[in-house]
Amino acid sequence: MKKTISVAALKSLVNEAYEQVKSAKGGANADYIPYLANVPSDLFGIAVSLPGGEIIEAGDTRYVFGIESISKVHTAVLVLRQSGPEKLLEKIGADATGLPFNSIMAILLEKDHPSTPLVNSGAIAACSMVGPTADADAKWKAIEENMADLCGSPLVLLEELYRSETATNFNNKSIAWLLKNYNRIYDDPDMALDLYTRQCSMGVTARQLAVAGCTIANYGLNPSTGKQVFDRALAPKIVALIAAVGFYEHTGDWMYTSGIPAKTGVGGGVMGVLPGGFGIAAFAPPLDDAGNSVKAQQAVRYIARHLGVNVY
Ligand code: DON
Repeated sequence: MKKTISVAALKSLVNEAYEQVKSAKGGANADYIPYLANVPSDLFGIAVSLPGGEIIEAGDTRYVFGIESISKVHTAVLVLRQSGPEKLLEKIGADATGLPFNSIMAILLEKDHPSTPLVNSGAIAACSMVGPTADADAKWKAIEENMADLCGSPLVLLEELYRSETATNFNNKSIAWLLKNYNRIYDDPDMALDLYTRQCSMGVTARQLAVAGCTIANYGLNPSTGKQVFDRALAPKIVALIAAVGFYEHTGDWMYTSGIPAKTGVGGGVMGVLPGGFGIAAFAPPLDDAGNSVKAQQAVRYIARHLGVNVY
């Protein structure tokens, strides 16, 4: 069912959601990466990007925070663009793991399959697949450009976050080399891990994430730049990946309660996609026990419920 919502009504709903959720308690900043532990916990912003180019926002929507795992969506899009849906399915997979984002158990259970590019193992495998060549600089350029294409403007590397992640990513090192053991990494494991760590350390705003969400919702057409970023036939593939595992082991609960496919990051961001509708992003650093922003979840749910939208 198609719903028509006026921009004015959406503006007042976004403001209402902001007021309702801003004082919510609960959760804590990610503390396993020192940089993230020190981001002010009371930051909170909501942005909605519409296919016509409007961006509706409330709160700290221009604060630059770590994109973290939301970057997995961007690089999955890049792999789809460069290699196509069949190769992604064959070399990585499109399944939920039902386990935490950094699970080693998930790799041991599915030896021939990193399961999905939206958990750490599959995201590192995705970085190993990125072209155009095996050269690290060329791969990084492609990752950066693809992120800018989706977000509508370039992202900046948060050097301190990158250093902080690199100094503490021991679990991810184990994942990269375990993938190598199962022939599920397609280039140098250390290079793929560094690309993954770097993409997670990119600084993004809620506005940029909303635009990226809308680009996917809008079948590849970026509402801010007017650029067709990817072939529209790829849109259902990327939405299927997000809907299957965007909230890791809590994805079923998330989809049941929100109806909006969305991807989270431990920087406190959530990026939601309503196909044919809009992109929505919310940001607040305190996370629940699965690494998902408490306030961002509440904000997206509030807006979806009050609009009566749902992919099902
Ligand atoms: O791999 C990591 O540990 C981080 N750089 C990203 C994790 C993340 O954002 C998980 N999602 N909620």
